[in-house]
This record gives sequence, C-alpha cells and structure tokens, in this order.
Amino acid sequence: MSYPYQIKSVEHYHEQYQKSINDPASFWSEIANNFVWHKKWDQVLNWNFNEPKVEWFAGGKLNITENCLDRWAETQPDVAAIIWEPNEPSEKTRTITYKDLLLHVCQFAQVLKNNGAKKGDRICIYMPMIPELTIAILACARIGAIHSVVFGGFSAQSISDRIQDAACNIVITADGVYRGNKVIPLKSVIDEALKTCPSVEKTIVYNRLQLSVSMNDGKDVWWNKEIQKVVDKNIQFIPAESMDAEDMLFILYTSGSTGKPKGVVHTCAGYMVWANYTFVNVFQYQSRQIHFCTADIGWITGHSYIVYGPLSAGATSLMFEGIPTYPDAGRFWSIVEKHNVNILYTAPTAIRSLMSFGKEPIEGKNLESLQVLGTVGEPINEEAWHWYNENIGNKRCPIVDTWWQTETGGVLISNIAGITNAKPSFATLPLPGVQPVLVDEQGNNIEGNGVSGNLCIKFPWPGMLRTTYGDHERCRQTYFSTYKNLYFTGDGCLRDQDGDYRITGRVDDVLNVSGHRIGTAEVENAINMHAGVVESAVVGYPHDIKGQGIYAYVIFNGEINEEVEVKSAIAKTVSTVIGAIAKPDKIQFVSGLPKTRSGKIMRRILRKIAEGELTNIGDTTTLLDPSVVEEIKKNRL
Ligand code: PRX
Repeated sequence: MSYPYQIKSVEHYHEQYQKSINDPASFWSEIANNFVWHKKWDQVLNWNFNEPKVEWFAGGKLNITENCLDRWAETQPDVAAIIWEPNEPSEKTRTITYKDLLLHVCQFAQVLKNNGAKKGDRICIYMPMIPELTIAILACARIGAIHSVVFGGFSAQSISDRIQDAACNIVITADGVYRGNKVIPLKSVIDEALKTCPSVEKTIVYNRLQLSVSMNDGKDVWWNKEIQKVVDKNIQFIPAESMDAEDMLFILYTSGSTGKPKGVVHTCAGYMVWANYTFVNVFQYQSRQIHFCTADIGWITGHSYIVYGPLSAGATSLMFEGIPTYPDAGRFWSIVEKHNVNILYTAPTAIRSLMSFGKEPIEGKNLESLQVLGTVGEPINEEAWHWYNENIGNKRCPIVDTWWQTETGGVLISNIAGITNAKPSFATLPLPGVQPVLVDEQGNNIEGNGVSGNLCIKFPWPGMLRTTYGDHERCRQTYFSTYKNLYFTGDGCLRDQDGDYRITGRVDDVLNVSGHRIGTAEVENAINMHAGVVESAVVGYPHDIKGQGIYAYVIFNGEINEEVEVKSAIAKTVSTVIGAIAKPDKIQFVSGLPKTRSGKIMRRILRKIAEGELTNIGDTTTLLDPSVVEEIKKNRL
C-alpha cells in the first residue's frame, strides 16, 4: 500500500506547504479523494473565526469506520490491525486482523443498538487499554453515536461531571484493570459516578478480570453475554450509518484555565483526514510497519495515533495495557523486541523516567527493528532527546517532536521523519495547511526570525475543534476572543533564526504534568473541598521527571497535629475529586496569599518562589500585604 499524499523529500514538503497555503481547497480536496465517501462534499471549506464557524467538506457523507475497517478488510483482510500486549507479560498477546476487527465492531455496534443506542447519542467509555476499548469506540462511530472516552485514572466525581455535561445515555466499562501490580476496580468507580448521572440508562460491562462486581438489574449488562446474543442471531455485519461530514464524531474533555473541563468536539470528515494525513506524513508510515504509540486512548494522542490515524491508513497499531516500569523499567524495550516495533511514539516524561534507571534495562534488548521515534505532550529537554537518540534510536532513527493539542485533533508542528531536519527541543516546522503566527500581548503580529511570542494559528486546518460541547460561547471565548481572527493555542513559542518553532510552555494557568494538562483552578477547587482549607493557590514548578510538578499554597484553619497527615488528607481529597494525576507534589501551609488590592492572587510571585527564585520576584508594592511574601519565602519547601 502506498499513500499518494505522502511527502517524499524536503523540496516536496516545501512545495506541498506552499500549495496548501495558496490553494487550500484544491490541496485538501485532492487528499480527501483518497477516502471512502457515500457522497462527495459540496464545499471544501467554509469558515469564520469570529463565531467561530469552521466547516470542512460540508455536504459530504461518509462513515469513518468504513475508512478504518471495511476498505482494509477487503484489500488486506489478514493484516494485523491491532496487536495487543497485556499488562502481565505472561498473559497471551492478541492479534486482531482487519477482517476480525470489522466483525467485532459490527457485532458490538449491534449490541449498542440492542441496548437502545442510536445516532447522535453520547456514549461514555471508561475502559482499560484492551482491544475492546478500540472496538467500543469504532462501534459508536459505526452507528453514529458520539463517544466520550474518559481516561481510566479519573475519579468517580470527574467521570460524573463529564457524563452529566454530555448527558450520556450509555456507559461502556469493564470490571477492572491491571495497572502494574495494582488492580483498579473500574466498575465500582462507575457505580459511584452513576449515583449522580440520571441520564444513563444502560451500562455495558466487559469482563476483563473476573472480579465480582455488583450488577444493577435491568441497567447493567455483560458485554460477553450481549455479544453472544448477536452471534446466536448470526449477525456478522451491519452497514455503517451515513454521517454528514460535520456531524460530531467524539467529545474529549480537557482542562483549561477555569475550574471546569470542557468537552472538545471533533467532527467526522475533517478529523479523519487530519488524523490520517498527519500519521502518514509525520511518521512516514510504510506498509506493514508496526506502530507503537504508548499513550492511553483516554487522551487525544491515543484517539489519533492508536485508533483513527493508523487504522484509517491500514496500519498495524500496537496497544499496550500496562505501564513502562512493570514488571521492570525495560518493558518498552521488551515490547519493541518482541513485536519488532518500527515506530515508537512516547512522551518526554516517560523517556526521563526510563532514563533515570540507567542503561541496564536496555542491555541485551534488540532494538534494531526501530526506524522512527517520536515524542509528544510537552517540550522535550535536550538531555532526554539525546538519551532517546543515542540509546533507543542508536543514532539511526529520526526523532519527530510533535507539537499539538486536544483541540487540534492531530499534529500541527513537527519535523517529518527522515525528511525535514530534526533539532533537539524544537518541534521545527508547520505541516502543510498549518499557518502559525506569533503575536505580542496586544495581538500584534511578530514578524521575522529570532523572535518569541504567543502562538496562534491564522487559518483553519481540517482537524481543528469545532466547538466545546453544549457551550459554543465558551469555545469562542477560550480560543478565538483573545486575538481577533486567530486561534490562540495558550502556548508561548520561539521562532529561531532558521524559522524553526520551539514551544516554550503554557502562558495561561494550565499545568503540564507528565504530559497531561491540568488547570490550576481545577486543582484549587479540589483542594478547597477539604473541610479545613480556607483558600489555596496552585502553581507549577520544574520537576525532573514530570516536567512540571504541582506546588500548592494552602491556608488551613483546621487542627494540625501531624502536618504530614493533614497534607496527605488534602492530597487524597484531590485524588477523589479529580484523580491521582492531579495530586500536589508539595503543599505549603501559609497564613495568607499575595493578593492585589482588587483581590487577585499574584501567581507570578508564587511561581517564582516555587521555582526557587527568591531574590528576583519582581514588584510587590501593589500587594495588599507584602509581608506574606517574606513568610512564604522563609517556609518554602
Ligand atoms: O503546551 C503544549 C503541550 O501540551 C499542550 C496540549 O496538551 P493536550 O491537549 O493534553 O495534548 C497533548 C497531546 C497532544 C500544548 O498546548 N505540548 C504538546 N506537545 C508538545 C507540547 N509542548 C511542547 N512540545 C510538544 N511537542
């Protein structure tokens, strides 16, 4: 199989880039012609960032699952679509061919229908990293239901918020999941969440671990038994629902600078084209290569580069249930060796963590199958980049540093493996169709090279978000109101002398902890739910492994006998409200917070102190009570 739209050389990249800018409509319609449509589009692009309104391939009709399954089941039925590596190395690997994946998806789509699902319904998926998660996602898409996958590490409260926001009527889950040597009881987390979710009518439970779980009569059904009913009726195929190009495909919740996560909405056609185009080009995917993206499907990286990108390209996607350090810190390398992985796509935090174990876990592992390496989620520091390059890629594998966001659907800025130059800690150049601009605080365009500013995108690309679920105004305010006629990414960025882009981190109150976005306001809300907490302020600080750690300043008026215990109770509150990923790394009790006369917390000062910058914290004269700063500095952790 070959991809006619795959970039072949540096010259070809520049030529394609120019074409995508000069004539986006013909550029994207040529690419979209490589997909299966029920009906071609009437108009390639219709947009206006003020509303915002963005429509790609309007009037077109299609179903993404025919592009991910049916066409490959016909032309390459026995090629592996998914290779699954379980958490326990002793458990059997599963390989699912395109033919079988189509069968499983059709059967589960019928199960969904039997349980009342229909086009347009919102279905929450809270599942382990097992092939059934991919099957569930594609089955929703097959019948035109909108999936909302919630990462398995989120708490009952977070799941409930997400289910309620989207008014989901069905939840798909499993009894439990292994994560390293821990068992996480997913079904009981869902039971807790559903106490506050009246919209949910059915829960479909996959039996992964044979745990004993409580099943609510009439409401809860077993995946396996429901599939058996479909098998008994000999249903092996169901036709795919015909979707409008701009119908919603999925919702994925992500954190922002306010306390409440928002449901980023992606639509059928544009997202498909973008996930596919970026997968094929950035990684330079070649027929039959094995692609291993280590992300969890609960995040956008898993949606785009485990499920939709690879499958829409007829690729083989490796799915791993476990964690990089179980049973030991050589697990990734064992997987590469065992499955002859060709492309490895992971996060800088994982690289830094594995780096800390030294070379021993790599010794004796055959990594020769690797051809391309990638990173995503946060800026990669040079030390980690070189370690990855030397020890994993053996200096012969290009590393792509891919910058993108939940909202962008797929990669926007990255080098192209083996084609355009890599530069450690730089995402380098925009992909065709992507028009980045740097602006100053007032929104003035900063031209030229060797400059820094806030990163915006001035023209739509097919994979961009269309709205935030149930609240279009929030979408406008968050992304399109800061700078006129621009999509604002929330990231700071440098464009160096060569014109290469380097993302320098968030410029808003969003943290990036181990490659995951966490809003400071969200963490503060959670901390404040502890009965003894009066007020709190959360900032990020540099952390060797996580990239950023969470530093919380807390005013506490409860009784403090054992400080350690109180702090761990506060951290536990955060785990219960959000999930373990948002637990503060450091909690400092303070008697007051530095505030302006109008009551605004001066985070800049708190950030400096958390970072250990105690001498040069800037002007404190506008503070209501400058003396709190001295106290905070003195007691810094
Ligand atoms: O700050 C940027 C950082 O991650 C943010 C997006 O987070 P999320 O929506 O969770 O998606 C993560 C996976 C795509 C961005 O605003 N980020 C992502 N990739 C990079 C990055 N920062 C620097 N370099 C990257 N390659």
